[in-house]
Amino acid sequence: MFQANTLSGDKADQYAQLLEQARGLMHGEHDRTANAANLSSLVFHALPDLNWVGFYFFDGTELVVGPFQGHPACVRIALGRGVCGTAALTRQTQRIADVDAFPGHIPCDSASRSELVVPLYRGDVLVGVFDLDSPVLDRFDAADQHGLEALASAFIETLGKA
Ligand code: SME
Repeated sequence: MFQANTLSGDKADQYAQLLEQARGLMHGEHDRTANAANLSSLVFHALPDLNWVGFYFFDGTELVVGPFQGHPACVRIALGRGVCGTAALTRQTQRIADVDAFPGHIPCDSASRSELVVPLYRGDVLVGVFDLDSPVLDRFDAADQHGLEALASAFIETLGKA
């Protein structure tokens, strides 16, 4: 049984511990769904003030919801639409302090106030996005972005070479 340890120290320490736990959880496993499901659960339960954590995967045309924790979400998002579609298209992490101030934000859970979306690329190939929503305004700072991008990279590494 996987035992998640309580995170301690400052934010950078906590993300280093979480990355270690994530690597342990995904070690030796290449299945995208399995790793996305377990990573969503790990992060959702480890970090405070989150109401949705999960994945959208690119099906060759648009983003389609994958494994997640939280309330049911919108299923399909076109590239360039919303925070997720913008991250996928621009290849830039979107760190949104106030989702109501983001033009085109797609509300899935009315509780969401801030959002962070990391684009997932395997080489030059779009895999999808890793999306986190918070009920707290301005929940994500630069340390969160750095830590969550590292977790996203660890996930991509489990998929092997493009
Ligand atoms: N808010 C996202 C949609 C996905 S949900 O937050 C789970 C967006 O604007 O792309």
